[in-house]
Amino acid sequence: MTLSAAYVPSANKALRDGCPDRLAVVATLFGLSAAPPERARVLEIGCAEGVHLSAAALLAPDGSHFGIDLDPRAVARGNETIGALGLGNVKLECADFRTLTDRSERYDYVIVHGLYSWVHPGVRDALLSTLHELLDEQGVAYLSFNALPGSHAKSMLRDLVLPHVREIVDPRLRIERAREIGKELLLVRQRPGSAFALLCAEIEHFLRASDSLVHHDYLAEHSHGFRFGEFAERLEAHGLDYVTDANTLDRSAFTEHPLVIALGANRTQRLEFLDGLEMRRFRQAVVCHKGRSSGSLDFSRAERLWFASSAEPSARGKIPGSEPVRFKIISGVDLETTLPAIKAALYELGRIWPAALRLDDLSERVSERVGSATSAADLARLLLDSSASAAVRVFARAPRSVHAPGATPETTALARLEARSGPEVTNLHHEPVKVETPFHRELLALLDGTKHREALASALADAIEARRFDVPGIDPSARSRWESLLGREVDGALERLARYALLVA
Ligand SMILES: C[S@@+](CC[C@H](N)C(=O)[O-])C[C@H]1O[C@@H](n2cnc3c(N)ncnc32)[C@H](O)[C@@H]1O
Repeated sequence: MTLSAAYVPSANKALRDGCPDRLAVVATLFGLSAAPPERARVLEIGCAEGVHLSAAALLAPDGSHFGIDLDPRAVARGNETIGALGLGNVKLECADFRTLTDRSERYDYVIVHGLYSWVHPGVRDALLSTLHELLDEQGVAYLSFNALPGSHAKSMLRDLVLPHVREIVDPRLRIERAREIGKELLLVRQRPGSAFALLCAEIEHFLRASDSLVHHDYLAEHSHGFRFGEFAERLEAHGLDYVTDANTLDRSAFTEHPLVIALGANRTQRLEFLDGLEMRRFRQAVVCHKGRSSGSLDFSRAERLWFASSAEPSARGKIPGSEPVRFKIISGVDLETTLPAIKAALYELGRIWPAALRLDDLSERVSERVGSATSAADLARLLLDSSASAAVRVFARAPRSVHAPGATPETTALARLEARSGPEVTNLHHEPVKVETPFHRELLALLDGTKHREALASALADAIEARRFDVPGIDPSARSRWESLLGREVDGALERLARYALLVA
């Protein structure tokens, strides 16, 4: 690997689908006995600045977290952040992952995000051998890659753009020129009868992409897509098995559609067919040692998992009976359901979001509300194997996020640090959330668990007066006119931050 002149950081975000807690949930549902994430040995290969890993380390003080990356600038920046956070259970090292097999460490969770599709085929094979060697017998790995057929469109676009940026060395100029070319290509669409629909959709996607994605994906030296069957074969050759997709749990593979049934019981063929139907462009594969996973979802294992939902009923409807109730989810998605058990579960969970209930507890509450027994396994199936799955979140252990702010509200050291440098901060569900308002960000940076409301309001007043940020409609120098109103603003902002799972218990 040659280092380019200017440093273009990679995404450097926490990734909920690839966090140890999510992998533990998947492992539980697919018959593996993975280590408890709070005490696990976690490795991230290609960790860049280690934001994902640091977020995991914050949530698991008794675990050990090790990241490896070839880029010295990313690792130096990451280690600086880790030092500032005072985290003793995470370490980043600048080295090639191929050196790892010389050491005797084994890991419960291995995370490889954004690497498999973007390296030379020889390195790809070495990656699978390394996974096989380093993964504990019951361990679980996350391995993302560009999937076919959806990523064909990306290859088409790369073929058109790369010849125009080949001679440009500076990555910033390459990104800029690539975007100009993307815009020019879009104009071609205006030609009557053009059959460029797929390509145009890809160009629009590309033009919305961050610098990081353009540089590390679209313009990368390697960016390969794989058919699912091809990927499964490579795993098998290395003594590994595909478990499921970290995000969707591949529920669609169990579909009763006649075209899927006609393919017989071969799961690989079914999944590849479904990838074709959905034009899938990305996979978040969960991988384990060969023969360790049952390969099928077992809802009876969900009893000890924790469920959360941000669902808020848009209009109150009755739980018993088939009256539909529409729920709004924090992502903005709407969900309508007529099933009493789902309605009851979403009411129960929505009231305490972003905290969670253990499934056995939830199923008891649901049974009470509905007036008939609903077993934990049936409830898990209803919540995870239907459109309701978009509204629920599952955890291996209770998330530390609280529903209502306490007397001296607190967020994590990472969120405090991130709030100082931009709108994107990592929450307690291990995902990036955007805190756009400068007032909210300033408040978040103050939440170290030692300050009551008055102290927070007073610190914010100082910051406004010092013009550290603008509050529309107020004159910073006229403190006496607005200071008394700050208390209510602080309360409102804390509630909002709690809803984004940013406040810790
Ligand atoms: C596209 S970035 C993804 C980074 C990060 N996982 C993310 O999602 O933001 C790929 C990373 O893999 C690292 N990498 C590439 N080849 C490597 C190797 N052989 N050993 C260790 N790291 C490698 C690169 O330096 C880069 O930081």
